[in-house]
Amino acid sequence: MSHYILDIIYIIGALSFIFGIKLLGKPESAKRGNFIAAIGMTISIIGTIFLFNSGSAETIVHLQNVPLIFTAILIGTIIGTIMAKRVQMTQMPQMVSFFNGMGGACAALISLVEYHHVSTLPVVDGIPAMETGKAIVIYLGLIIGSISFAGSMLAYLKLDEKIKDKVLPFQQVINVGLMAVILGIAACSIFGWFVIPNALYLLLAISLMYGVLFVMPIGGADMPVVISLLNSFTGVAAAFGGFLYDNKVMLFGGILVGSAGTLLTVLMCKAMNRSLLNVLIGNFGGGANKGEARAITGNIKEITKTDAASLMKYSKKVVIVPGYGLAVAQAQHICHELEQQLEANDVEVKYAIHPVAGRMPGHMNVLLAESNVAYEKLMEMDEINPEFKTTDVVLVVGANDVVNPAAKNDPASPIYGMPILNVEEAATVIVMKRSMKAGYAGIENELFYNDKTRMLFGDAKKSLTELVAELKNV
Ligand code: TAP
Repeated sequence: MSHYILDIIYIIGALSFIFGIKLLGKPESAKRGNFIAAIGMTISIIGTIFLFNSGSAETIVHLQNVPLIFTAILIGTIIGTIMAKRVQMTQMPQMVSFFNGMGGACAALISLVEYHHVSTLPVVDGIPAMETGKAIVIYLGLIIGSISFAGSMLAYLKLDEKIKDKVLPFQQVINVGLMAVILGIAACSIFGWFVIPNALYLLLAISLMYGVLFVMPIGGADMPVVISLLNSFTGVAAAFGGFLYDNKVMLFGGILVGSAGTLLTVLMCKAMNRSLLNVLIGNFGGGANKGEARAITGNIKEITKTDAASLMKYSKKVVIVPGYGLAVAQAQHICHELEQQLEANDVEVKYAIHPVAGRMPGHMNVLLAESNVAYEKLMEMDEINPEFKTTDVVLVVGANDVVNPAAKNDPASPIYGMPILNVEEAATVIVMKRSMKAGYAGIENELFYNDKTRMLFGDAKKSLTELVAELKNV
């Protein structure tokens, strides 16, 4: 009976994940989607604790661990809640990376723990033998989970600017070599071709090393792709756990995360104009593995807030390009107010959203939706690029890499090949930022020296507030 109840719980859990993901697709329903999926996950966990294999001798032993399990859940819930409450919107990518790493670590730990449990066959040469299917699941879960854990932790440190990109000599050869060693040891152990003492722990160590070396050289603007790839790794590793325990909801959840992460990786690769193979062997851009980027000469021209306000007020069309600086300054609400002020003066206003603007997929959409900017005003890169030619003023708010023409015309630049917003085609470009400092990719931007560009220095929120005041006065 309890077996049927558990099946029903799992179906509800699986449906809540699908429904949750669907709702996550739109900023206005995303919170609800998250909540529904979390409820589904909670009832699936509780159902599993009390009803999985209920009645069997194993469950009776397992039930003695219930206080331990709930203590662990309580500790995890407290830590997770505090982290989620404290995190700034601009630190979300770090948190996503960190939590993703935890998922990878869990998958690797499952393999380590279950290795001895699932071996039903006799011990050979001190190593427990097991069915090939289970061995594949255990070893792959360990490898993928460890790579995801180590890679995500490194991505977390890099996004938090605690460590910088580093490219070793022969980096790609080392990465490919390590992967070959991992696959070789795994194949020998799974199919019993060769007895390698402590193969499991050896694989754990080499996979952790691979995770670090895989993410270490990834530089400049390429982190988004690797983060979504690591996300899909964790999903796949969790799905292996589902196979191992014959637990449908774990399998289902893992497959959903794995496939969503893979789809996002493919989309990100497309947006960044990179091939997936390059990602897999760590052949990414980044300052260190290309030639010297071209030096930029020339002068910049500044604009006052009064001039900027009147220029925009007497324009027909203004396109706002939000970037990471908008998120740092939390300037989304005042940006929406600026848009309303301009529209009150019959100016057409649109937003140009680059797929990797900010620090996480959909970062700008989430921020702007939070301040009630209409969804139809958010134009994707391919839609808005042809419109810059007919735009009077482009207002770049804390964006840098996503408007850097070096992506088109400097083959030595680490972002060369990445599609960008062609803002320089507009009549005038006003760039709002605090200084001449570089963006995430760490490179200079020749747009700032363009004849059409005017720099408006200052914190984005403060500058926009003053612009709105000027607009009301002009
Ligand atoms: P960035 O190139 O990072 O530039 C942001 C600019 O905002 C900086 O140049 C900074 O200049 C300015 N800024 C910072 N704080 C500000 C403030 N309070 N007020 C005004 N300006 C401020 O941003 P982007 O153009 O959005 O590009 C995103 C980059 O991040 C890309 O390289 C992308 O590949 C990478 N990335 C994206 C993701 C995802 S998935 N979106 C994930 C990881 C990495 P000042 O310091 O001079 O003010």
